[in-house]
Amino acid sequence: MTNTNLRSIAEHFAFDASIVDITTLGQGFINDTYIVTTEKSRYILQRKNHHIFPDVPAMMDNIERVTTHLKAKVAAAGGDPIREVLTVVRTKEGELYHREGDNYWAASLYIEGSVTHDKADTPRLAYMGGRGIGKFQAMLADFTEPLAEVIKGFHNIRWRFEQWDKALAEDRAGRKASVAAEIEQIERRREQMLAFWEMVEQGVLPMRVTHNDTKLSNILFDEHDEVLCVIDLDTVMSSTSLNDFGDAIRSYTNRGAEDDTDLGRVSMDIETFRHYAEGYLEERGATMSASEREWLAFSALYITYEQVLRFLMDYIDGDSYYKIAYPTHNLVRARAQHKLLESMEEQYEAMREICRQ
Ligand SMILES: Nc1ncnc2c1ncn2[C@@H]1O[C@H](COP(=O)(O)OP(=O)(O)O)[C@@H](O)[C@H]1O
Ligand SMILES: [Mg+2]
Repeated sequence: MTNTNLRSIAEHFAFDASIVDITTLGQGFINDTYIVTTEKSRYILQRKNHHIFPDVPAMMDNIERVTTHLKAKVAAAGGDPIREVLTVVRTKEGELYHREGDNYWAASLYIEGSVTHDKADTPRLAYMGGRGIGKFQAMLADFTEPLAEVIKGFHNIRWRFEQWDKALAEDRAGRKASVAAEIEQIERRREQMLAFWEMVEQGVLPMRVTHNDTKLSNILFDEHDEVLCVIDLDTVMSSTSLNDFGDAIRSYTNRGAEDDTDLGRVSMDIETFRHYAEGYLEERGATMSASEREWLAFSALYITYEQVLRFLMDYIDGDSYYKIAYPTHNLVRARAQHKLLESMEEQYEAMREICRQ
């Protein structure tokens, strides 16, 4: 992207003063992010990945509705809606995005003095990560209108099994016979996982706003390392909010790597679980239903299981979805996530006990 092009794209947005400078904040995994400096303030400008998000207008509409709700909550509590909620900046024509060819662009206010952390490598950061997502969900617990499904079937295990059955039937890469033991690990838990999703379908677990990308770097902290707000709202959707907890636990608590070749290193650290759950429940406990609290710990098993299935399915499919660094990479990932799942199963009673407190 040349600077002239970027500038002409940025000119479409209703910034407060003329643009002085545009710098890259780095090519993210999903979006490209830039900082636009005007004579008065700074903004975030992002190219939204149209391949991952087929309907960017619906995505931006989700973000606008969710942030409007959050701003009202923060204002009512006497907080600062400009620093404690992401602010979408519209185009000069009043649109939530600017389209240029195949690309969609969106802008927001840059929250000055904010910090992010890459990895929860201390108890306090795990606790603060839990608080960040817990606070976000608590403020949205009464947001009941449905949001657009920007990624189809996300965390819907019934839909994943449809793809899974098809992948096994086709056996496109001819690898099925070589992973019989791994397939059995998936099949053995099929009914249990479907039973969890059925509670979502039947409303036993209520539909709420879920963030769907709960990594620590999507939480902005202030100079005292207190939570400011949750950002990267592209994936907000309606589902059970337990899955935000489960996905965070999957990544925060793993002692090994997602693709560890040494399974001896992979296990769930229950202390990290405790710290995250404490932070999360402090913020979110009061707005949870009894069934949500009952199934909170299980969501970690559910999300980890889904990841085992997805890695294994991609291996069977011939590696068409995830980027791989070597031919058995997806199989290695599936095995490492399965090891993590077993570790969670072994510690499930302790996890439930922590969630009850
Ligand atoms: N409004 C903002 N104010 C301050 N920093 C931001 C803002 N939005 C994004 N950032 C910074 O840019 C990084 C990437 O932005 P993010 O929206 O998370 O995109 P990605 O999809 O690449 O993760 C964040 O981790 C954060 O450090
Ligand atoms: Mg991010």
